[in-house]
Amino acid sequence: MHAFLLAGDNPDLALLELKGALRAEVGRTDVELVHPRIAIVRGLKDEEAEIVVRRLARTHSCHRVEEEPQGPEDLGRPLATREKLADRKPHLRPVFRPDSTEPFLARTLVNVAAAPRGEPFLDPMCNVGGILIEAGLIGCRPVIGIDVREEMVKGARENLEAYGIRDHELHVAKAQDVESVLEGPVAACALDPPYGRASHSRPRDPVRLLMEVLDALTNVVEGRVALAVADDVWKEVGPSFDHGPVVEDRVHSSLTRVVTYLRG
Ligand SMILES: C[S@@+](CC[C@H](N)C(=O)[O-])C[C@H]1O[C@@H](n2cnc3c(N)ncnc32)[C@H](O)[C@@H]1O
Repeated sequence: MHAFLLAGDNPDLALLELKGALRAEVGRTDVELVHPRIAIVRGLKDEEAEIVVRRLARTHSCHRVEEEPQGPEDLGRPLATREKLADRKPHLRPVFRPDSTEPFLARTLVNVAAAPRGEPFLDPMCNVGGILIEAGLIGCRPVIGIDVREEMVKGARENLEAYGIRDHELHVAKAQDVESVLEGPVAACALDPPYGRASHSRPRDPVRLLMEVLDALTNVVEGRVALAVADDVWKEVGPSFDHGPVVEDRVHSSLTRVVTYLRG
């Protein structure tokens, strides 16, 4: 069996992410928590476990174990560790926007969406491409972005190219119009709608915006739609959709966001 060592200060979010990545790579989500930070998966091949851990943001490492570990001290040498993401922080990318999704959240959302490699992936509010970069780096093809602002779409193109992701489609449009923008369905989707990390960027009616965008997405996304959204907005929007487990993630004293997904 394999033990995944959950990292960061939110093991619930790490677990949601791990289950999504397992679903994408090996078509299963049966995980057993034997310690607040250790998730056991039985019946994986070493190669499968390595592929899964390398695409995760919030799991530190994966270990082959003979017996159920009691704690991290029982884990021994890792079979593989996660990729380093910090060198893609927004201020280190060629085009910087302060509201672009940072790589840890971006990669988490791609995994919560259970985005399959080799299949089309969408961010309908893509800004300068934080989520699309992470989707492209795990092998989603093409990555498709929409943003209502032209300079964001230009920035996303430049950023994607800088990370060697050439199979992309980018559109200046409203996310609500996604059905007429796309040529066909996409396998998975993730979004981080504007919810005002800076108060000036909070949309006038964030509940209505999210409701309209999620409604439109249900017609074009075959799999999951992962999202990170302010908890007060989710409280209004969530009951209208069939969604997975909701994990709270405290950003700072006045903002708690939730991470969840709409079922495909
Ligand atoms: C928080 S940013 C998204 C960050 C992005 N996910 C990333 O990976 O960098 C929110 C974006 O939503 C865009 N936006 C706002 N309203 C929109 C709409 N109706 N349709 C499409 N994009 C919209 C904004 O221009 C902004 O770039």
